Amino acid sequence: MKFFLDTADLAEIEEAASWGVLAGVTTNPTLYARIGGKLADFPRHIERICELVDGPVSAESVAMTRDEIVRDGRELAQIAPNVVVKIPTMVEGLAATRTLAQEGIPVNMTLCFSVPQAIMAARAGARYISPFVGRFDDISEDGLAQLEQVVQAVGNYDFSENTVGGQRVEIIAASVRSAHHVAQAALMGADIATVPFATLKKCVQHPLTDRGLDAFLKDWEKVQKA
Ligand code: E4P
Repeated sequence: MKFFLDTADLAEIEEAASWGVLAGVTTNPTLYARIGGKLADFPRHIERICELVDGPVSAESVAMTRDEIVRDGRELAQIAPNVVVKIPTMVEGLAATRTLAQEGIPVNMTLCFSVPQAIMAARAGARYISPFVGRFDDISEDGLAQLEQVVQAVGNYDFSENTVGGQRVEIIAASVRSAHHVAQAALMGADIATVPFATLKKCVQHPLTDRGLDAFLKDWEKVQKA
């Protein structure tokens, strides 16, 4: 499973990239607003993320009609070769995904909450599909079970005739809120987990690692004094 960072924060991206595990970034309008982003700066901001990351960078269209989404998608794709256009799962989004995929522009279909949505996204030519986990948990439903169903259903079929360059559709476990979500996503075979920075940091931590390291350091002090 690959790790994407779910953020628009350049410092977080730079730090995570330095760890050697970062394969991509996903942004959304909320994440851009959270860092105080302004509309006029958006293309340059995405460009800077693309310079920091050696991998796909999702930038979202907020348009509501297929023509506007396609126009946004073409503009976003001009920013850098690693831009992926993020489009919500809806009728207009499917139609725009079809057009963009036929033009060779990769799409990440987002806000996916069901197997039929995921299958339709794949058929329309999405390169990535983002089932959301945490938002199901927020409404007391089992987000991981929903993700598992999407991974299994999409894996049952070959969608390569619909995707850009005949590439395999990849499932991005999104709305990830914990290391447990990451572990379960990997066990069920999700291709990617897009993870907030704080959660990514927790993924590398374990209390037994800390305890073991502490003991090693103390024992090494004894060795130095012996
Ligand atoms: C996916 O690409 C979204 O940006 C993200 O994972 C949403 O997560 P949230 O539900 O924590 O806002």
